[in-house]
Amino acid sequence: MRILMIGAHGTIGSAVAADLAQRHDVVRAGRSRGDVRVDLTDYASVREMYAQVGPLDAVVTTAGELHFGPLAQTTPEQFAYGLQSKLMGQVNAVLAGQSLLRDGGSFTLTSGIVGEEQIRDGSNAATVNSALEGFVRAAATELLRGVRINIVSPTLVDASAEAYGPYFPGFLPVPLKQVVQAYRRSVEGVQNGRRITVW
Ligand SMILES: NC(=O)c1ccc[n+]([C@@H]2O[C@H](COP(=O)([O-])OP(=O)(O)OC[C@H]3O[C@@H](n4cnc5c(N)ncnc54)[C@H](OP(=O)(O)O)[C@@H]3O)[C@@H](O)[C@H]2O)c1
Repeated sequence: MRILMIGAHGTIGSAVAADLAQRHDVVRAGRSRGDVRVDLTDYASVREMYAQVGPLDAVVTTAGELHFGPLAQTTPEQFAYGLQSKLMGQVNAVLAGQSLLRDGGSFTLTSGIVGEEQIRDGSNAATVNSALEGFVRAAATELLRGVRINIVSPTLVDASAEAYGPYFPGFLPVPLKQVVQAYRRSVEGVQNGRRITVW
């Protein structure tokens, strides 16, 4: 398969890209690095990325940022940042790519456990992750030509435990290699419209 990996130089994306590259042709996309550069928050940039990359069988996104902070001090601008970055960024990748994927292709997006479990300072992450999961559930019923869509929802991964551990007291980090297998299941398997949890 020819696979576009967006966020390919991040913690999760670099591990997913390395795994998929063992069996497939992987094109790595990122904001500041990669075979192709893209800003997912800019629809023109997303369209330009697809024009540069050419025919694809699968698109995987592990890109997008959130706002973490106490609700009482959160500004509308901070909240909107997560909506524009992680939510609309991944939705943009589907909107612009849906007619370009080969028949039977697939999208795999990323949400996270905060879409389901409460954590301190997590209102933006909860909103964005839940919205993405709703989007995937609905979009699966509308994508044409056998194109599938799934979303991987990891808990805290071991490789990020030092950075984000304080937000997740009592959450057992999962090995990054286990998260990688969820993306493989989505890309190489038959599931459609599913949230693949890794926790
Ligand atoms: N790490 C965890 O424990 C964990 C757990 C659950 C869910 N998640 C979710 O998984 C996703 C990936 O997490 P991660 O830890 O791998 O993040 P990460 O290391 O920060 O990597 C994210 C990548 O996305 C790229 N990116 C960010 N904004 C972008 C944009 N607007 N356009 C294009 N590329 C953009 C970044 O590129 P640049 O470096 O070039 O800016 C970066 O390489 C996130 O959505 C996160 O919420 C992570």
